[in-house]
Amino acid sequence: METMGSLRRTNMCGELNLKHIGKEVILMGWVQKRRSLGGLIFADLRDIKGLVQVVFDEDINKEAFEKAEKLRSEFVIAIRGKVCERKSKNLELATGEIEVYAEELRILDTAITPPIYIKDDDNISEQMRLKYRFLDLRKPFMQNNLITRSKTAKIVRDFLYDNEFIEVETPMLIKSSPEGARDYLVPSRVSQGKFYALPQSPQLFKQLLMVAGYNKYYQIVKCFRDEDLRANRQPEFTQIDLEMSFVDIEDVIYMNERLIYNVFKEIKDIEIQLPIKRMTYKEAMERYGSDKPDLRFGYELKDISKIFNNSEFNAFKNTIDNKGKIKCIKIDGSAEEFSRKGISKLEKFAKTYGAKGLAWFKKVNDNLESPIAKFLSEEEIKNIDELLVMKNGDIVFVVADKESVVNNALGALRLEIAIKKNLIDKNIYEMVWVTEFPLFEYSEEENRYVAKHHPFTSPVDEDIATFDTDPKNARAKAYDLVINGDEIGGGSIRITNSEIQNRMFNALGFTEEEANAQFGYLLEAFKYGVPPHGGMAYGFDRLLMMLTNSDNMRDVIAFPKTQSASCLMTEAPSEVKLSQLDELGLEIKPEKES
Ligand code: AMO
Ligand code: AMP
Repeated sequence: METMGSLRRTNMCGELNLKHIGKEVILMGWVQKRRSLGGLIFADLRDIKGLVQVVFDEDINKEAFEKAEKLRSEFVIAIRGKVCERKSKNLELATGEIEVYAEELRILDTAITPPIYIKDDDNISEQMRLKYRFLDLRKPFMQNNLITRSKTAKIVRDFLYDNEFIEVETPMLIKSSPEGARDYLVPSRVSQGKFYALPQSPQLFKQLLMVAGYNKYYQIVKCFRDEDLRANRQPEFTQIDLEMSFVDIEDVIYMNERLIYNVFKEIKDIEIQLPIKRMTYKEAMERYGSDKPDLRFGYELKDISKIFNNSEFNAFKNTIDNKGKIKCIKIDGSAEEFSRKGISKLEKFAKTYGAKGLAWFKKVNDNLESPIAKFLSEEEIKNIDELLVMKNGDIVFVVADKESVVNNALGALRLEIAIKKNLIDKNIYEMVWVTEFPLFEYSEEENRYVAKHHPFTSPVDEDIATFDTDPKNARAKAYDLVINGDEIGGGSIRITNSEIQNRMFNALGFTEEEANAQFGYLLEAFKYGVPPHGGMAYGFDRLLMMLTNSDNMRDVIAFPKTQSASCLMTEAPSEVKLSQLDELGLEIKPEKES
């Protein structure tokens, strides 16, 4: 193997163009591929800026030519040569108008044949990509994604710094708090039998920084949540986390709109229309069946319950009797696209969201066709026709159930149909602030109200008197930023009054002792002069999925985890030595016999 010797890189491969013609350059990188053509050898040389064609000509330098015969994909080389205009130009390649005639070649390292191709569309399984992540990360699209990530972080930092936010690091080993998702625990060696938790977010620390007078805080920070993973969730993920003092909702939203504006302007060259739309949680649920509505297409939910107040059709009658809802979505002029088989697939889909069935009506030749027409009165059919302004070729899908089930099922169905009909334009960004979230949600599992956002979120001013006596209707000063149907960030104005905080803990079913045991330090701090404060956190990885048009969160994270929270490259998590467990005073239970 050779060393670089006195060679020092003068240029990056991907940046060479006609302006460099005649210049002597020294390039270093990886061999993408090599082809021989008689007395010429061509090698595509790759670095993070792109590819360039290098030519080894027997007549120019025989030694370099002979060495070049040994080159294989992914060898690491240094070349010295001259930039020349290319005869047969390749305009698809940024450097396709030039090539570099090599006068010197050094092979800095060899490589065995890689198990995955280093190109964007290698069509290999994601398992292989993750196992050989160091090779996968060589692909141009992965490099571009991580460069965009780095650039976005800089834009965010610049903006927040310019607006006098102070970056403060908060601890990674913290006290466990069972509110929220499941904690990742870290056993303590020094205090055996005790555990730290990895932070699910820096929430309480940032509030303490407000108590401490830091005015505006931010951090781009790792968070850890041991929850069921989905396409847009990782067990460890990154937040842009921020908090501000002496603010109410409008101040936080105003600041954040400008932050998001800057990010989209600089990364995508898109000027977002400010102010960003707003919608209350209630409206979002009623119209879109979701608290993160995708506003890139219509198909709004419509409540048609009143048509069926005296229905004889069992499913509808039962729903009305049980104070449920009958709602529908109308797909204009598309009836022909939905065959019986297609509809039965959609029904199965709706059932995965808890629906008991999916009724439908098509208008054909001025007539409403439906499998349930025979169970309905003429009056009901006429009312559907009129209320929904049905035109020939329209089809509506109807779900009758508890309101939450109806919203869930139709909310998912409208998205499914939009995807099937290819209505979703990835280059459009539809943003909306969803506001006035419920303060609580009822947990069937725990048989009590739990905080919808977290226990430190303030009720809206109008609900302060009644939030604990009427928890079902209590609204929070909480807001989410939703982009294209994805929750990109969320936050709230916090409770800063001990009496309200105590009533909150009470409503959540905490005794005073329990509240003190878990959050005593915050309650203590709140005795010493607390500024009104609030903030929010963005899912940085989710934001990057938007900015890079990625469907897969793992494509914007250098070393992500799989669906089962493992790393295929390092094989974490792994067993540890008995001596390590011993030191921690831990013992692994023998596996239960099934
Ligand atoms: P929240 O829990 O809503 O708020 O989280 C903020 C944002 O983080 C992103 N996010 C995730 N991204 C990837 N993988 C996950 N597992 C994951 N979980 C959440 C989402 C979400 O909007 N402390 C509060 C914020 C505040 O009140 O200021 C918090 O953590 O995009
Ligand atoms: P069934 O009487 O269960 O055979 O249902 C007759 C038709 O009504 C089928 O097309 C079902 O999908 C539909 N259906 C049944 N229950 C509901 C419901 N709760 N909401 C909407 N449609 C339903």
